[in-house]
Amino acid sequence: MKFFIDTADIAEIRELAATGIVDGVTTNPSLIAKSGRDMIETIAEICDVVPGPVSAEVAALEADKMIAEGRRLCEIADNVTVKVPLTWDGLRACRTLADEGKMVNVTLCFSANQALLAAKAGATFISPFIGRLDDIGLDGLELIEEIREIYDAQDFDTEILAASIRTVNHVKDCAKIGADVATLPPAILRKLAEHPLTDKGLDAFMADWAKTGQDILKG
Ligand code: G3P
Repeated sequence: MKFFIDTADIAEIRELAATGIVDGVTTNPSLIAKSGRDMIETIAEICDVVPGPVSAEVAALEADKMIAEGRRLCEIADNVTVKVPLTWDGLRACRTLADEGKMVNVTLCFSANQALLAAKAGATFISPFIGRLDDIGLDGLELIEEIREIYDAQDFDTEILAASIRTVNHVKDCAKIGADVATLPPAILRKLAEHPLTDKGLDAFMADWAKTGQDILKG
């Protein structure tokens, strides 16, 4: 499973990209607004830091304008992925942009039939929002499972990009059920490496090592 990070914060992206486990980035209008920065400049900087797909979302609601915005966003860098909403206009824009060879991420997916439509429209990625489904008492992971089953049965190569991830268990479960990508808020990505027994074990190793008085670099 690929790891994308779900942020427009360039400092976070630089720091996490240095770990070598960041395969891409997703942004949305809310994340751009939170950054307080110019969208085009921000996407250009992110694309410089992360060579993998960087999702930049259109702001238009009407297909022709979405297509124009998508083309403009793709001029920023080769790794820009145009993000369009799962509406009929978004699907129309997806088909046109995909036919032009552009990567398209269809976002705000909350049902398996919506995911089926996105694949039919040539989406590179479909973004089911699992946390927001959990928020209303539904099961986000069940949606990922249904989409996996449909895409496998129908031989679609659209990648399932699990979004709206809120917990470390979401990450593990998405990996188990075959999501192709998970886009993680930076705080969740950091938490994946944490375990109290790792900290405790390392403290004990360091205390014992100090007693030896040795230095590996001077050996
Ligand atoms: O990129 C969109 C998605 O990940 C949003 O997550 O937490 O606002 O539901 P959230």
